Order: sequence, then structure tokens, then C-alpha cells
Amino acid sequence: MKAETETQAPVVAVETRGLSRSYGSMMALSSLDLQVNQGDLFGFIGSNGAGKTTTLRILATFLSPSAGQAYVRGHDVVRDADAVRHLIGYMPDFFGVYKDMEVTEYLDFFGACYRIPPKKRETTVRDVLELVGLSEKQGALIGALSRGMQQRLGLARVLIHDPQLLLLDEPASGLDPRARIEMMAILQELQRMGKTIIISSHILSELQSLCNRVAIIEKGKLIYCGSVNGVADQMKDEVSVWVRVSSDIDQAGSILSNRPEVLETEEVEGRIRVVLSSAARDISFIPEALVRGGAKLVELREDALDLEEVFLRVTKGETQ
Ligand SMILES: Nc1ncnc2c1ncn2[C@@H]1O[C@H](COP(=O)(O)OP(=O)(O)O)[C@@H](O)[C@H]1O
Ligand SMILES: [Mg+2]
Repeated sequence: MKAETETQAPVVAVETRGLSRSYGSMMALSSLDLQVNQGDLFGFIGSNGAGKTTTLRILATFLSPSAGQAYVRGHDVVRDADAVRHLIGYMPDFFGVYKDMEVTEYLDFFGACYRIPPKKRETTVRDVLELVGLSEKQGALIGALSRGMQQRLGLARVLIHDPQLLLLDEPASGLDPRARIEMMAILQELQRMGKTIIISSHILSELQSLCNRVAIIEKGKLIYCGSVNGVADQMKDEVSVWVRVSSDIDQAGSILSNRPEVLETEEVEGRIRVVLSSAARDISFIPEALVRGGAKLVELREDALDLEEVFLRVTKGETQ
């Protein structure tokens, strides 16, 4: 019985310990401790210059750390770089596109780099094109593709050798909303296929609904690493709830302000904003108290703190 309810410990896909990198006297990354679990769609959030690209390049074995360690599935990215390269697919923030090449030619070329035999390469190229929704563009010149399609082609390229871990540096930047949504849908599909994905972005709201875990960095320092909900919870010192009644609003307000859980109430545009102490996790007392007091409740809504707001609070505008 017990075994069924026990949750298994997560398999660690990426771990960094005290990871640091300086450029001259400038510390781009200071003692970063990160943990990404297998199967995570992990959001790596920070404003420009925060150190996202530096971190991803170290994980991709292209840049060596000044201090600290980084491991991909237990392999040290410096000492065991070859093993790491087989496990990862790295999509840099800017990658040269071979504009005069055809889509299939381009992918076939990278397949050959990974020594995939010609016969298998053909199937692999077809499969990855289908996955990123570019099957119909096989013969097209890369230069003729839209920006969104080129980004998806970039994603197809890093999928060629079927890596477990994808390191995607701002893959949605510069895309229009539609192309961005398409990109996000593909990432969700890849997560369902069992890939672990680290995606960086300075656009916070796009990661909030996509990722199951996030890290926030600022000026090379980790500010938060954990669940998306956790970051909001950590920041919340008070909880507010919006109440709308069809009966007398003042009467409803006084019923609520007499409750011990309620810190204050205020009327805003025909609704009551009820501020609760952070200890009051259960808000079911609100409808109960209102009904008992004879008020007619028509709407009850908890104020959700979004990631963007949280981010602004945590970083206190310390952008570079
Ligand atoms: N090759 C480099 N030489 C000197 N400074 C660099 C170099 N690459 C990055 N930096 C600096 O390191 C910091 C972190 O950069 P980066 O990792 O690119 O941040 P992000 O990707 O979050 O925008 C920035 O201040 C940037 O100017
Ligand atoms: Mg960057």
C-alpha cells in the first residue's frame, strides 16, 4: 500500500554547484546553484545581461566556468564534455541560417555531422520536420522562410540526434504572437515525449503557463529556483480576494471586516477587496459568513499574483 502512494525522487537532469564565470573583472555569473529534473520544462528567466546565455553556453560545453561545477545527467561539462554533447541539443540565441540551403539539405547536413547513416537520416529528417510543423517546406530555401519557421527549423536541427535535454536560448524572441504560440505548443509536445527542456526568456508571462519550474536570475545571481506557484507564494505576504454582492455592499463589507482572518476591506468600483492575513489559506469562510449574515454573494475571486509582478518585486528594478 505504502509503495503506491510514495512519490519517486526526481531524476536530476542538470545540476550546477557554485557555478561562476567572469569576463575580466566582471562577474557574469556568481555561484549559481541550479537543479533541473528530468522531464522539466524549465524556465530560465532574467533581464538582458542577467547571465542566461553564459549559463546555457557553459551547459552546452562551449564556455568553461571560472569556478564551480555543472553536470548533465551526472557528467561534468568540462571533464566529460563529449558525453554531455551527445545528451544535449543547444539552440543559441542567434544562429547563422544557411539562407541558400534547402530545408532538407540543411537538416541532412547536421544529421551527417552526428554520423547518422544516410538511410536512417532520411526518416529522422522527415520525423523532425513533422514535429516542428515544417513538412510542407522540405524543398523550400531557408531564406524564404518566415522568422517563426526559421526558429522552428533551428529547433528541428537540435532534435536531429534525439537528445534528452534541450537548451533553448530565447527561442521565441522576435517572433510574432502567433509564431510564439506555435513554438510553445511544440515545446509542450516535446515535454510530453519525455524531453527535458530549459528555455530562457526575458518575457516572463510567456513562461508562466508553459513551465512547471522556473529559475530567476539577476546580475548573475540566482534569486529563485522552484515551482511556478512557489515563486508567487514566497512573495505573498498577504492574500487579497475580490467579492461582489447583489445585496447591500456596506453591509457585506462590515460582515467581512468583523472576521478575525480579515486585515482590511475596501470598496473598489462596486466590489469589495478583502485583504487576508497570509495564514488564511482557506477562504471558504467568506461565502459562509456572507450567507449567514443575509448578504447575496455573486462573485468571489482570489487575486492571482502573476510572474511578471513577482519578478519586478524580487529584482527591484536592478536591471543593467
Ligand atoms: N564575451 C563576453 N565578454 C565580455 N562580457 C560578456 C561576454 N559575454 C557576456 N558578457 C557580459 O556578461 C553578462 C551576462 O551576459 P549574458 O550571459 O549574455 O546575459 P543574458 O543572456 O541573460 O542577456 C552581461 O553583462 C554581458 O555584457
Ligand atoms: Mg542572452
